[in-house]
Amino acid sequence: MFDVIIHNASLRFGNHCVFEDLNLTLKGGQWTCLLGGSGVGKTSLLRLIAGLPAGETTGKVACQDGLSVNHRIAWMAQQDLLLPWFSVLENITLGQRLRRNLVDMLTRRPVLSAEVQDQAMSILEKVGLTEKAHTLPQNLSGGQRQRVALARTLMENRPLVLMDEPFGALDAITRLNLQDLACELLQNRTVLLITHDPLEALRLGHEVYHLQGQPARLTDAITPPGKTPRSLANNDLMSLQGKLLDRLRHESFDERAEGQ
Ligand SMILES: Nc1ncnc2c1ncn2[C@@H]1O[C@H](COP(=O)(O)OP(=O)(O)OP(=O)(O)O)[C@@H](O)[C@H]1O
Ligand SMILES: [Mg+2]
Repeated sequence: MFDVIIHNASLRFGNHCVFEDLNLTLKGGQWTCLLGGSGVGKTSLLRLIAGLPAGETTGKVACQDGLSVNHRIAWMAQQDLLLPWFSVLENITLGQRLRRNLVDMLTRRPVLSAEVQDQAMSILEKVGLTEKAHTLPQNLSGGQRQRVALARTLMENRPLVLMDEPFGALDAITRLNLQDLACELLQNRTVLLITHDPLEALRLGHEVYHLQGQPARLTDAITPPGKTPRSLANNDLMSLQGKLLDRLRHESFDERAEGQ
């Protein structure tokens, strides 16, 4: 598995410099988690890595194996982005169908090859949604919809997964369950997870960074001890969570004070 190296990345919107000369290595096969206040530049960094930058950007994103990141990225966002007129199965195979242009000319419904269908059903089984394969998104709970989004990410089968607050809208228990599931199913992928939740970052991250300031800078990495997903009973985790929460709270307090 290859490292992804972000070298001297800068982003500005007119006079507003979001970040400058930012360097970050996503270690191959590991989860890197990124925390930071609202508007600090987390999503912008993700977009820059994915080759979808807005604004003026400089810098380089390279894979350690010398190949480009193009076609090696899957994206999972806070909104599940499911298409309401497609069933669960049709939604998670959307990428395959778009790329192969598989549509029944008569009914205009998507056509799935037996191979893609088998693969999709096996992934739905892993996320516990076999029964919902033919259900429309509107008939699913928020947690089920996010499991569909995770299944769609897995269907893409890319080595690099960029996740922008994927569990942000879920209740605490559903969130913990989905963290465990994502951790299990995305093992050995290179993952960059953005979250506002220090506990989530500490449970899942091999390295946890904090993006702060303007222009934003990355703090040194925290490397929580133990295997992921880390248990809530882990005392080290709880003490690190306290420290991170303090840091994030002071940061938002400082920002408010500056704005006054
Ligand atoms: N298209 C744009 N035009 C101008 N400014 C933008 C644009 N997109 C983002 N910005 C600005 O860039 C900064 C970083 O935005 P970004 O979306 O990366 O923040 P974020 O850290 O992801 O915040 P949040 O936690 O709220 O999602 C913000 O100040 C935002 O206003
Ligand atoms: Mg964002």
